[in-house]
Amino acid sequence: MWTKACIFDLDGVIVDTAKYHYQAWRRLTDDLGIIFTEEDNERLKGVSRMASLDIILEIGGMKLPVSEKKILADLKNKWYVERIAGMTPEEILPGTLEFINELKRNDVKIALGSASRNTPMILERVGIKNVFDAVADGNTVQKAKPDPEVFLKAAELLDIKTARCAVFEDALAGVEAALNAGMICIGIGDKKILKGAHMVVRGLNEMDLNKLIILEKKLGYEHLI
Ligand code: BG6
Ligand code: MG
Repeated sequence: MWTKACIFDLDGVIVDTAKYHYQAWRRLTDDLGIIFTEEDNERLKGVSRMASLDIILEIGGMKLPVSEKKILADLKNKWYVERIAGMTPEEILPGTLEFINELKRNDVKIALGSASRNTPMILERVGIKNVFDAVADGNTVQKAKPDPEVFLKAAELLDIKTARCAVFEDALAGVEAALNAGMICIGIGDKKILKGAHMVVRGLNEMDLNKLIILEKKLGYEHLI
């Protein structure tokens, strides 16, 4: 097959941490007197910690100096870490391990590409640290999605050409990052939101090797092998 590596986003693809991010941001926005809804929280998917705070302050019509923003972002992260510290392997989203194991049996490398600086802790808590051949995350890259840096870094760590990587992403910024990296992109979620993805499924439980091979053919990759 054409694909030599699959790169998975973490939040929203492998685990549902959006609810913990929301709870932690809510604690902060309640303190600040900003009205922040679950709908607003959708805008933060795939967005880095500081950029998320900027969106929240914009919603609340607040402007703060960088030094104060840093304190607030650290506080939010402290509350977020308290929540993810209690995560268990049961929180791995359905179909994830089955699909990853099928890929591994077919010699496809597995990498993680996430904006989160809490990636190591989450992988450890849900017990899948050793599943990945490479991990690129918010600790190893500078530029946030839609910049392709995190996915390019994953491909580099695996020593696999970018064009032979497929990315699984639940956020529009992440889909754009994958396309900017020149990779195949499978969206996880809603087709109407994940514009540009080569294919969209609702979760990894709807994914299998055969679907990936059919997609490669549709994109004309089989002629290149
Ligand atoms: C992304 C999440 O994966 O990571 C965002 O979708 C989050 O919501 C970002 O802001 C950064 O995460 P962290 O854990 O470094 O604050
Ligand atoms: Mg995500």
